Amino acid sequence: MKEKLADRLEEMENEELADLMRIIGRDDLISFAGGIPDTEIFPTDRLKQITEEVIANKGAEFYQYSSTEGNELLRKYLVDFLTERGLTPEFEEMIITSGSQQALDLVGKVFLNPGDRIVVEQPSYLGAIGAFKGYRPEIKEIPIEEDGIKVEALAVYLSQLKQRGESIKFIYLVPDYSNPSGARLSVKKRKEILNLAEKYNFYIIEDTAYSELNYYGQRLDYIKSYDSSDRVILLGSFSKFFVPGFRIAWIYNSKQFVQLVSKAKQNMDLASATAGQLILQRAGKEGLLAEQIERTKDFYRPRLEAMANALDDHFPQTAQWFRPEGGFFFWVKLPEGFDSRQLLEEALEQKVAFVTGSAFMTNPADGCRYLRLSFSNSQVDDIRAGIKILGQLIRRI
Ligand SMILES: Cc1ncc(COP(=O)(O)O)c(C=O)c1O
Repeated sequence: MKEKLADRLEEMENEELADLMRIIGRDDLISFAGGIPDTEIFPTDRLKQITEEVIANKGAEFYQYSSTEGNELLRKYLVDFLTERGLTPEFEEMIITSGSQQALDLVGKVFLNPGDRIVVEQPSYLGAIGAFKGYRPEIKEIPIEEDGIKVEALAVYLSQLKQRGESIKFIYLVPDYSNPSGARLSVKKRKEILNLAEKYNFYIIEDTAYSELNYYGQRLDYIKSYDSSDRVILLGSFSKFFVPGFRIAWIYNSKQFVQLVSKAKQNMDLASATAGQLILQRAGKEGLLAEQIERTKDFYRPRLEAMANALDDHFPQTAQWFRPEGGFFFWVKLPEGFDSRQLLEEALEQKVAFVTGSAFMTNPADGCRYLRLSFSNSQVDDIRAGIKILGQLIRRI
């Protein structure tokens, strides 16, 4: 069969992701691997009640297709959600997608021809790299620091491209508590990147998957809130701050862009599932989404702090990390020459899991010294015990 298959399948091969999915499926581990919310925080009783009400009120509509752009009530709810956060969308500027993972694929589909240039953070969300790779772009990675991508390095790269008469199509950013780095882009850098986008004529894909998960201070304004020329394509998702199982997310940009995405989506799945859209809209209207966003603070903050303290206590001085103020992740750099894949093998024998940095770089070898540790899905005691085991292994290796 092999000779009949498309070349793009090679781009889809991702050993790290396959390993990760295997690890996520195991329940005999202390797992810092999955970047997933804890089911314990899901408001299951309220959702059951809302679902029953929605079925009673909507009748057969609950089981019908929705439009490709998505249920109008949900899009209108999202207009309110984003308006509360300082934006001024209209509902025709919103399209519902089947998770923001689909939104990433749609962005690739709408923008990319083979060989087109794009920029991502290094490290960047592996699902985004995977989705974009399917469209065969040239991916340039620009390193991050605690306050987000290194804007100076980005500016140098863009200027060099310009001298060669070239440019990028878009930059993909997760500005708040990025996956996997936990970095948050400073306000200054948000504005600088937008200025670069104007100067060098490219789009910004702003993925806000973790933007509601602020455990200390307030959220920062979206890059989109400084955008007056539709340069920023905003992606949002219910997955991390509410529940991921409905697979509902959104894209916000101009009506024209929404129409393009809609055409692409039609060929992919016609429409996102109606049931989840109706339930989420009702949950939003009843204030349940806002309540959940508040609940995440007391739920995840102790876990973040347990991981920070355990890293201080058990990891060697030569390892480096910073403490995020939200999201799900710590990103740890180990000393020169260290191979996190070897560490993972030994850690799995002791029933502890994490994701190696290799998964988040286009060249896996660049990520060998890094670990992504997710604190979202483990109890505080397990976090302490698991980090202690990892610390001991690192010192021994
Ligand atoms: C940065 C980022 N974007 C998008 C996604 C996809 O989320 P979903 O498809 O559940 O909305 C994830 C999931 O891990 C993520 O970390």
